[in-house]
Amino acid sequence: MEKREAKSKIQSLSTEINKHNHLYYVLDQPIISDGQFDVLLKELKDLESVFPELLLPNSPTQRVGSDPLPSFEQVNHEIPMLSLGNAFNDQDLGNWYKRISSSIDSNKFEIACELKFDGLAVSLLYENGIFVRGATRGNGSIGENITLNLKTIKSIPLTLTGNPPSLLEVRGEVFIPKSQFLTMNQKRENEGLQTYANTRNTAAGSLRQLDSKITAERPLDIFIYGVGATNSPDFNNSHWENLEKLKQFGFKINPYNELVKNIESAISYYEKWLSKKESIDYDCDGIVFKINEIDFQEILGSVGREPRWAIAYKFPAEQVVTKLLDIQTNIGRTGSINPYAILEPVEVGGVIVRQATLHNEEYIIAKDLRIGDWVTVERAGEVIPQIVHRNESRRNGSEIIFKMPSLCPSCNAITSRLENESALYCTNAQCPAQLERLLEHFVSKTAMDIDGLGIKTTTSLIDNELIHDVSDIYFLDKNKLENIERMGEKSIKNLLDSIEKSKSQPFSRLITGLGISHVGSEVAEILVNEFKNIDSLMNVTADELQQIPSIGPKIAISLVDFFQKETNRRIIEKLKTAGIKTELENQNSGSENNLLNQQKFVVTGKMENFSRTEIQNLIKENGGLVTNQVSNSTNFLIAGSDSGSKLNSAIENNVKVISESEFLAMISS
Ligand code: IVH
Repeated sequence: MEKREAKSKIQSLSTEINKHNHLYYVLDQPIISDGQFDVLLKELKDLESVFPELLLPNSPTQRVGSDPLPSFEQVNHEIPMLSLGNAFNDQDLGNWYKRISSSIDSNKFEIACELKFDGLAVSLLYENGIFVRGATRGNGSIGENITLNLKTIKSIPLTLTGNPPSLLEVRGEVFIPKSQFLTMNQKRENEGLQTYANTRNTAAGSLRQLDSKITAERPLDIFIYGVGATNSPDFNNSHWENLEKLKQFGFKINPYNELVKNIESAISYYEKWLSKKESIDYDCDGIVFKINEIDFQEILGSVGREPRWAIAYKFPAEQVVTKLLDIQTNIGRTGSINPYAILEPVEVGGVIVRQATLHNEEYIIAKDLRIGDWVTVERAGEVIPQIVHRNESRRNGSEIIFKMPSLCPSCNAITSRLENESALYCTNAQCPAQLERLLEHFVSKTAMDIDGLGIKTTTSLIDNELIHDVSDIYFLDKNKLENIERMGEKSIKNLLDSIEKSKSQPFSRLITGLGISHVGSEVAEILVNEFKNIDSLMNVTADELQQIPSIGPKIAISLVDFFQKETNRRIIEKLKTAGIKTELENQNSGSENNLLNQQKFVVTGKMENFSRTEIQNLIKENGGLVTNQVSNSTNFLIAGSDSGSKLNSAIENNVKVISESEFLAMISS
């Protein structure tokens, strides 16, 4: 075949395949069999392999994934990707409606009602009708380029039909249909693999694969719900018309969208879907209402990242009833005895729940929970499961009232309650369980950052009496370690190296690591800056402490108590002998760099490559200051994904928002 003939055949085959793709994946109305479709695709593939120079990036053969990427590039969203305010009841919704009606004449606007799909927001960019770039929402301003992954989703058109503008960005939600999710999990179970927890996380994980061939195997789908950037004036009338246009270009729009004229009809739409949501093949966590007229949307504008012209009316969190089989306790690092519920395993929102937190004894008494009770359990979003209430009518008298242990379940010491505190404490400073928790905290990344001291090793070291308190870590003897199970030569060397390295951690890390009640890394930072060395801190009074802004009575009392104890003073002396930093270093000294020049940073959201704590440490190591609250004196907000209110206050305070990688670029120079 001549090249020219091949080119025209490739074009006609591509158009034909795109049409059938659209009929099958977007409209759900196929007119040819899968076999016939495969014949067309094979014909195209064969031609493209004979004439590789004719292979276009938007060819329908290019949906199978490509070579893995080393990392995702960043994408700036020219128009920020907004999020939505929430309503949880009719009253919240009514208030929203009233606020809008007072800004614009209520007879003149319509409300577009849409399902709120529980997936992942993406942006799709088309130039001259061709899909050129797809991105995650990220923090709303900066996302990740996941074009190759999105190309594998068959309901995303690679080439638009009709007369699209030369520049068109659309936004939508990627999700996994429930039925396909079940099939996928069934298959994994048969293969002895661990099953996925829920559709949303699986969809998110699938989109963040660097290897798009893996994404191609996942049953992802999409609904488009809005227009982003465009150079066309045709999208300025109404949201409803915009979606109609997008449909004409080949995008998949949800068929259950409705346009209503008043709030009563909007509430009816919500109620209808609240009772019908199980019947549709994708997870929805609420309804989105959007004012239809674009003019009105513009008048209403946004507060921070939330448009006033739209709202999400959330469905109530899923609740299930299960049996409270037992109440057990664990011991926290400060010796607090924490009760938790053992539940008859039950599925809530796609996750099997076996335990729920019970906080403290007061909580159990307030809810009058007894072992053997039938309880209603709720899991809202990603949050830890909670017991909402017991089901009184199912009591049969065999339920047992739980009593907090009078002796520590780990060391049998007497337990006691501190004044003004709801928690019960183990009174033994040498309690092994307490020490385990404390060591876990001491070696963690927020504190001394020591590798090689996992739970099992720590327990063995305590059981073998090599560690009695945190300072003993610095006096571990190589020969004695050799007698510990599972400790080989290599792991001993790595552990000792890591311990040695931790000696150069800044003073504030030690204060964090001591595990003093109410003293986390932020308070530690404040204390260190104020008192400069451990001796001043050890001798301070509660009154003096409370002179410091952000130090309240709880922190003050807990600190003074801690340093008054003879055992703790001895530990500090041992730590000093070991060569741990117990004073603030001159921050601008030669060895520490001052790249960030004391500028103030706030870190929020989920980072991609580091934990928030690691980022905060990098800021400090490079001469920057870390604070928790955004104010007009903040210089930068480092925002990861799912950034919430801090992002809004940054926008309000005109604080520069940067991504994790922009920050890394700042300190790499
Ligand atoms: S509109 C103007 N419509 O909800 C607001 N969002 O909380 C921009 N979502 O990030 C979003 N279904 O991931 C819109 N029908 C729908 C939606 C929807 C799900 C998600 C989306 C967005 C989040 C906001």
